[in-house]
Amino acid sequence: MTLREAIVERHSVRKFTDKVIDEATAAELQNTIDECNRKSGLNIQLVLNEPEAFGSGMAKYGNFENCKNYIAIVGKKGDDEKCGYYGEKIVLHAQQLGLNTCWVALTFNKAKATYVANDGEKLMIVIALGYGQTQGKTRPSKPMDELCKVTNGEMPDWFKSAMVAVMLAPTAVNQQKFLFTLNGNEVEAKTLFGFYSKIDLGIAKYHFEVGAGDAYFKWKED
Ligand SMILES: Cc1cc2nc3c(=O)[nH]c(=O)nc-3n(C[C@H](O)[C@H](O)[C@H](O)COP(=O)(O)O)c2cc1C
Repeated sequence: MTLREAIVERHSVRKFTDKVIDEATAAELQNTIDECNRKSGLNIQLVLNEPEAFGSGMAKYGNFENCKNYIAIVGKKGDDEKCGYYGEKIVLHAQQLGLNTCWVALTFNKAKATYVANDGEKLMIVIALGYGQTQGKTRPSKPMDELCKVTNGEMPDWFKSAMVAVMLAPTAVNQQKFLFTLNGNEVEAKTLFGFYSKIDLGIAKYHFEVGAGDAYFKWKED
């Protein structure tokens, strides 16, 4: 499964089967996590066979069932966009390995979650992980023209394909509070007001890069 296929196939899944993640699959995922930690300075952890975080309270309210694995994204204040970008890299690799996921900011039991946070670090968000009872389902997206603009001329094909990938990116409560602007070969990606919208932006930027393929562009720095 290519990354582009993984983007199309991925949907949030909240109900899981009893199938255990075997050692080889866990090791592959751990490799990706290690690489993401090296590049980002985040402290992302794979937590397997731990039923407590999704066993009570908000998790039930949030419609979760049988979730025994998750990825704990631990980072520092201000790391939100990075958490989204690198977390989504792991989500799409999990999809390629046949696993299902759901980003979860609120509907889990944070007090019971297992993770290590060093000085100055905190649990930013988790990603529920396992074999889904279903593959989840397609959900509506805002139209492309509400999510992007091109300052000069026609929209190039590579930018359109990047935006198709952005439209498939998960966002908190499906809010899609961002705007991508193409100016020459520079792309500005900015958040609009919303909860967790910086994490959303990091996720969407990773999708954009995958969708853009080998087209040349550069991100506009803040
Ligand atoms: C930053 C972030 C936080 C989220 N928090 C929760 C949550 O607390 N509970 C939950 O059930 N889903 C949560 N989600 C999942 C979104 O509801 C879901 O991604 C969105 O509705 C789009 O659906 P899709 O992932 O199937 O494309 C979150 C997603 C993101 C990106």
